[in-house]
Formats: sequence, structure tokens, C-alpha cells
Amino acid sequence: MIGYGVVGQGLTSILMRRRAETVKDYGFNPKIVAVVDKGGAAINSRGLSLEKLEALKKKGSVAEDAAFGHPKMSALDVIESVEAEVVVEATSTNVKSAEPALSYITKAFKTGKHVVTTNKGPLALAMPALTELADYNHVYLRFSGTVGGGTPMLEFAKKCLAGDKILAIRGILNGTTNYILTEMAEKHVTFQQALASAQKLGYAETDPSMDVDGIDTACKVVIMANWIMNKKLTLKNVDIKGIRDVSLQALDEAAKRGNTIKLIGSIDGDKPTVKPTEIAKNNPLCVSGVLNAVTFVSEFAGEETIVGRGAGGMETASAVLRDLLDIRHKLANRLLNSNSE
Ligand code: HSE
Repeated sequence: MIGYGVVGQGLTSILMRRRAETVKDYGFNPKIVAVVDKGGAAINSRGLSLEKLEALKKKGSVAEDAAFGHPKMSALDVIESVEAEVVVEATSTNVKSAEPALSYITKAFKTGKHVVTTNKGPLALAMPALTELADYNHVYLRFSGTVGGGTPMLEFAKKCLAGDKILAIRGILNGTTNYILTEMAEKHVTFQQALASAQKLGYAETDPSMDVDGIDTACKVVIMANWIMNKKLTLKNVDIKGIRDVSLQALDEAAKRGNTIKLIGSIDGDKPTVKPTEIAKNNPLCVSGVLNAVTFVSEFAGEETIVGRGAGGMETASAVLRDLLDIRHKLANRLLNSNSE
């Protein structure tokens, strides 16, 4: 595990709580052989104790462990030198250079390790190249937690609608902006007041411009378009407009028409866009507060909308666990096929 913040710690908590069931229901009993945080690494090829990892993190860094700690050891050294099947990459997002996560992911691929990431940066900037590199190295790249948090938006379209053709995707994909617009529309607070309370509640990114200027939504649009519609997009292909110019007056006028304004990311036709859009209050996509929602339009099944919480440590960790189970399933099938050849 690279990065041991809210998502990483959420994953160890879920693994502890669900250990018996994941073994019984999925035959899945993972060993965490290394964890890296800002202070260094903890490494044990026989598996680190989950309980101990949680306790160490509360103290500061996992590298403080007397027996297995490696203060200052770098993530790249760990990925290179530790034997593992999968790297869970949960470091913070950088949409300018995608680093350091991009180097972690490519190092993992080159050393034959599958990757589960919750990091939007590398995917938004280099998803076509990364999927190619994963294929070339015969490893899997999974990223359910990057869109919709724990809500399985990517899987819904990819697996539940398998066989159909997804024609368009429209979604509220950012909880912070949805919270701000809801507060403005319902409580008549200003943009700045609503943003301050979103920050206080911990919804916003460290740099809230990621949220309010539509960049976070655009990253998610890129990931969805590539994964679900087989496009080869990066962030620069998206037309982006955030919510800074949405006024209380515009929200009031929309309300008189039975509508409201939401930040909608959409892929409909060739040009993906992110922009404030007036939608009917009775549109299933029109969810309030920090909720996310996405509507898939497919050729035969029609329109379906999936709604859920789009962020949060435990929610995103639950997506990581789903990805780990998916990789395990794929590896089991690979083995089965090679035995029957
Ligand atoms: N800041 C993001 C949001 C977090 O508000 O949705 C999840 O990507």
C-alpha cells in the first residue's frame, strides 16, 4: 500500500471487520506486505498485522515500528524491492504532473504488479498510455474509487450494462459543488459562505479550485469516457466551466421554472463538457447536498440513474476492496484458462 491516509486506513479497517466474510464468501485473505507513508515504510513479507498498522498510524508513521519499520525508505524502492501481487496506490491527487503517483504506477507495472488506484491525477492526464502499459506488462489497472467514491458507477456501466452500447453519460460527479449549489439554492447563502462550510465539513479538495472550477468533475468525465465508452481522452480534451459565476439570482430564476442549476459533466457526442446546467428538479439526476448521481443512456436499456455518496475514506476503501476482488477473480480465470489449454 502506497499512501496510508483516510483511504488506506479505511481499507485496513474494512479488512479487519470483514476478514471472516471475505475469506468465506470470496476465498480472499490478503496479506499486506508493505505500507508506505510520508515517514517511510513498514515491511514484512509474512504480512503486517492490520491492528498494529492502525495503532502505528495513530502515533505518526508506520515506519516507527521497531521490528518492521524502515524510516525514510521511498515508495519507489518499496515497489521495486518488495515482492507483491498488487500495489494499492492511494496518495493525493496532482492534476498538473500526476506525480508522484504516475511514477509509482509505472514502476509497479514494470515490476509485474497489478495496480488499484484511487488517484484521479494519473488517469486524467495519461489514462490511454497507462492502460497500454498495463496491457503490455500483462497486469491489471483498476480505479473504481476515482469516480463515485463507494458508489459503483464505473462497474454499473461496464458490467451491469455489458453488451449494450452506452450512448451518453451525464452526471453530478463532485460532492463539494453539489453541496454549494444546494446550499445557495435552498438557504440563499452566498457562494463564498457555502464554500467555507463545505471546507469546514471536509468535502472540498485541499485546493478547492479543483472542485469549484470543475477540474475534479472533468477528471471523472475523462475516466468514464475512456473506461466505459472506449475513448482515448485526457483532461485537455474536456471543455470546462466551473460554478464561480452561478448567482443566487440565476438559481432563483431557475426555481421559478421548476428547475435548478447543477454542475454537470457529460459525454454526449464527441466533445466532453463540464458546465453549470439548468435541470428540472424532478429529473432523477437532480440530487441534493453532497450526493453524486449519474445517468447512463444506452442504446437498448434506455436511461438508468445511479445515486450515492461520491467521496469519503471508508466509501473509497470499499471501492478498493471491490477492485482487489475483481483482480483476484480475473487471475483465477487466467489460471483456469491456462490449465485447460
Ligand atoms: N472533492 C471531491 C468531491 C472528493 O467533492 O466530490 C471526491 O472526489
